[in-house]
Parts: sequence; structure tokens; C-alpha cells
Amino acid sequence: MAHDYNQFVLNIKNKSGIDLSLYKEAQMKRRLTSLYERKGYASFLNYYEAMLKDDLLFNEFLDRMTINVSEFYRNAARWFVLENKILPRLLSENTSLKIWSAACSTGEEPYTLAMILSKFMPLSKISILATDIDRNAIQRAKMGVYPERSLNEVPSEMKKKFFQKEGSFYKISEDIKKTVEFKSHNLLADPFPQQMDLIVCRNVLIYFTEEAKTEIYQNFSNSLKREGTLFVGSTEQIFNPGIFNFAIEDTFFYQKQ
Ligand SMILES: C[S@@+](CC[C@H](N)C(=O)[O-])C[C@H]1O[C@@H](n2cnc3c(N)ncnc32)[C@H](O)[C@@H]1O
Repeated sequence: MAHDYNQFVLNIKNKSGIDLSLYKEAQMKRRLTSLYERKGYASFLNYYEAMLKDDLLFNEFLDRMTINVSEFYRNAARWFVLENKILPRLLSENTSLKIWSAACSTGEEPYTLAMILSKFMPLSKISILATDIDRNAIQRAKMGVYPERSLNEVPSEMKKKFFQKEGSFYKISEDIKKTVEFKSHNLLADPFPQQMDLIVCRNVLIYFTEEAKTEIYQNFSNSLKREGTLFVGSTEQIFNPGIFNFAIEDTFFYQKQ
């Protein structure tokens, strides 16, 4: 059984460059096993062989391994800290900001950033880089159409200003869309953009092994300017921030020293 999964990990790496060995094994194996069993395959090998002949199966696998759940203003209290403490400080030191939403999923996170930044500067001055490994998620982010439940935490004035209701969905405004540039990027394999003032990377590192996390924290630190800030998810404290040259700026915010 272990051999079956290990071989699958190698096969997927050869096929797609995605290294499943850097994701927590028990969790990933459980998720994928339940998927292939439901589809009627007997083993990872069996499943992989079918995938080679059927792109849809491969896409479905990608969809399952990249958990895309997101929402606007996820953990709203943290975005309040960003708005009232972190951004005012960064903007007192810089006239424009280089901002990266890493593992942005379907766009709720970078669009939340844009809405908050709109309180500080005209939308035409905002430029946010947003990346994810999942091209399907990026396609959906570019469409910018969301079910009502993704907007639960959006302040009503923002909802009024930046969304248009279409049937039971909400469409984000073109002005907000224009502030975000979406690109595909694998945090476990691709070079990191440099000279960032703010990196937002939330609710993805929980899926990675400790070894992979350590490498990513170091890469984030290298990618930030001095005094730039990393904003992580609300279960993702860094235990030893000092070793990456980070100091705690607030809960879930780390400032590069
Ligand atoms: C749970 S979502 C988090 C979305 C958003 N950051 C938030 O907090 O709401 C996790 C995202 O991480 C992406 N992801 C998984 N592995 C990745 C990798 N190696 N590189 C970049 N993104 C990855 C998935 O495609 C998914 O969109």
C-alpha cells in the first residue's frame, strides 16, 4: 500500500511537476483514496493509469488535491489589523506597495486586499500580484463571480460599492478586477517574486510538511524588503520566527528584520 502511494507520488511528479511528497501524507492519501475508490479504482496505480488516458480524471485529481475554499475577509478581525495597523505603517514608509497574494485560490483574498487598499489610494494606483498552482481556480478568479455565502464578511458599504448582484450571484466590479494580476505559481517549485512590501499567504501552509514549510518561510523572508510584512492564516503561527529573520508585528503578522 505504501509502495502504491509512493509510486503515485513519483508518477504525478513526472507528469505535472507537482511534488505530493511535500504535502502531509496521511491527509493527502486519505483524500485521494476516497476519491479513487468512489470512481471505482482499486489502487493508486490503477487510478494513475486511467488518468493517463483521460484528462478529465487528471483535472478532477488536481481539483481534489488543491483545496480551494476561500471567502472574502476570511477571519475579518485579522483584516481589521491589516487595515488599521499594518497598512498605515507600510504606507508611512513607502509611496507605493508591492503586494503578493500567494495561493489566492478563486480570488477572494486579493480582491479583499484591493477593497481595503481603496480606502488609502485610488484604485488606479493599486497593483496586486495574485498566484495559485491551480489554473482552474485562477480562471474562476478572473471571472470574479461569487455565491452569496462567500460575501458574508464583506462590510455593507464595500458590498454596495464593488459588487453587482446577478441572479443569486455577485460579480466583483471591473475597477477592482483591474488592480489584480493573476499568474500560475507553485510555492514548492517556482522562484519567488522579489522586493515585496506585503505577502499574504493564508490557509495553504497547513497542508505542507514541516520541511516544506521551513523552506517556504525562508523564501518568503528573502522575497520581502526589510520591514516588509508576511500575513499568514489564523491557524498558521510561525513557531520560530527569528530563524527566518522575522519579528512578530501582531498575531499572524510577521515583519522582516
Ligand atoms: C484553502 S485555499 C486558500 C485560499 C486563500 N488564501 C484563503 O485563505 O482563503 C488553498 C489554495 O492553495 C493552493 N495551493 C495548494 N498547493 C499549492 C502550491 N504548491 N503552490 C501554490 N498554491 C498552492 C490551492 O490551489 C488552493 O487554491
